[in-house]
Amino acid sequence: MHVEIRREDSGDEAAIHALHAAAFGTDAEARCVEALRAGGALTLSLVSLSDGEVVGHIAFSPVVVEAGGRLARGIGLAPMAVAPGRQRRGIGGRLIAAGLAASSAEGHGFCVVLGHPGYYPRHGFVPARAHGIRWERGHDEALFVQALAPDGLAGVSGILRYRPELDAV
Ligand SMILES: CC(C)(COP(=O)(O)OP(=O)(O)OC[C@H]1O[C@@H](n2cnc3c(N)ncnc32)[C@H](O)[C@@H]1OP(=O)(O)O)[C@@H](O)C(=O)NCCC(=O)NCCS
Repeated sequence: MHVEIRREDSGDEAAIHALHAAAFGTDAEARCVEALRAGGALTLSLVSLSDGEVVGHIAFSPVVVEAGGRLARGIGLAPMAVAPGRQRRGIGGRLIAAGLAASSAEGHGFCVVLGHPGYYPRHGFVPARAHGIRWERGHDEALFVQALAPDGLAGVSGILRYRPELDAV
């Protein structure tokens, strides 16, 4: 199966919405993607295409980590989805790798993600607690981080905040 990865283009919006709704069984994540797009907060949005069909999507948006008035800016991976009939074939992994590589090339210092401990460490993420980064809403055990530059996490610790558009999920 040949799967191409490219940046979101105008005209992909409906397919991305349908993909998230199918993968999550609710349109909450799809609406978050739309809210991020409308707010100019889609730092990076990549789609996977198979025979022209959108079978995967990954979104990144700005995050801040704050401690003692000191702000560090990075990006957060959320949400991502692979079409239900195409999961567990590496499509998600390739989207993560492509998204992190592009984000690193664009100069972002670090990336956080909330997710399954069995999945994200395979892609270079480590527990955010190890860096003293805590999510403002708790559940820190599910928070992971990775540097996108050699010193990308230097001095980065404190409370993590995502964009408000992601509050719904
Ligand atoms: C999570 C998701 C994006 C992964 O994409 P993918 O293309 O299936 O991932 P890959 O093929 O690269 O990696 C497969 C690994 O993903 C994990 N995984 C996939 N589906 C999973 C599920 N339903 N529950 C837990 N882990 C899952 C497993 O660790 C799996 O590895 P394994 O097959 O060795 O157990 C995809 O399964 C999906 O869209 N799920 C529903 C939506 C979701 O939960 N999104 C993530 C939160 S933002």
